[in-house]
Amino acid sequence: MSTATIIDGKKFSATLRGRIAEEVTRLKNDHNLTPGLAVVLVGEDPASQVYVRSKGKQTLEAGMNSYEHKMPAETTQEELLAKVEELNNDPAVHGILVQLPVPDHIDDHAIINAIDPNKDVDGFHVINSGRLATGARGASAPMIPCTPLGSIMLLKDHLGDLSGKTAVVVGRSNIVGKPMAQLLLQESCTVTIAHSRTKDLADVVRQADIVVAAVGRPEMVKGDWIKPGATVIDVGINRIEVDGKNKLVGDVATAEAMEHAGAITPVPGGVGPMTIACLLANTLTAASRQNG
Ligand code: GUN
Repeated sequence: MSTATIIDGKKFSATLRGRIAEEVTRLKNDHNLTPGLAVVLVGEDPASQVYVRSKGKQTLEAGMNSYEHKMPAETTQEELLAKVEELNNDPAVHGILVQLPVPDHIDDHAIINAIDPNKDVDGFHVINSGRLATGARGASAPMIPCTPLGSIMLLKDHLGDLSGKTAVVVGRSNIVGKPMAQLLLQESCTVTIAHSRTKDLADVVRQADIVVAAVGRPEMVKGDWIKPGATVIDVGINRIEVDGKNKLVGDVATAEAMEHAGAITPVPGGVGPMTIACLLANTLTAASRQNG
């Protein structure tokens, strides 16, 4: 029985963060510029608090400035829009991230689209998603959402040229599924977006040379759905309880899938660490662009 190669996102992201830190040092020395990332957290969601803390820590470790803005759960939409406007106008802030989800009484589209597109390090603004969809380059190149960006980096590092490959993305979120499909299309893959209403999902996934699982359901993609030798990118981070203990699992049944796949990202240690590394990369890009 064959066993898949593990795609080591932890190692890849450490190398990427090292390169970013070197570039930050160069910007400081040559241009007296320190990139700054502002993260806004509204409310007390425990998972969001963990992510935000981790983003702040890694931002500082890369030599950048980190600005955390914690706002209470009762914050109004107007108050949050005012905070975004303040950060848009702050020259020390090159990247702005409003941690999602925001409380239900706030319209997340309105908040995302109030962020200056050139400071939108999440790449969620309609201008950035439009730039990605139309293949804009040069000065109007998009900010690319961090999780899909990290995933495509791992795929290209492992497979090289992706041209002509069949890719199935399971999940259609604005954060991962849709931008991931755009990136794969840009690499000349034949792309299918599957989701919870897809008929015969197992058969659709079986067509794929590349499977990206981003549905947020623990171990939903089974081993025998994977075409022999396929490359599997597991974006899921799900906490489940096994024998009374908390366990982190992806959207793919990893142990089973290893018997079929050619290569697979583990959870943890696959896509997860790439997301924050790409956030730092986007912040560096934003700072460089804003300073000509
Ligand atoms: N919540 C879960 N993932 C993300 C992300 O990539 N960016 C933001 N802003 N919020 C998130």
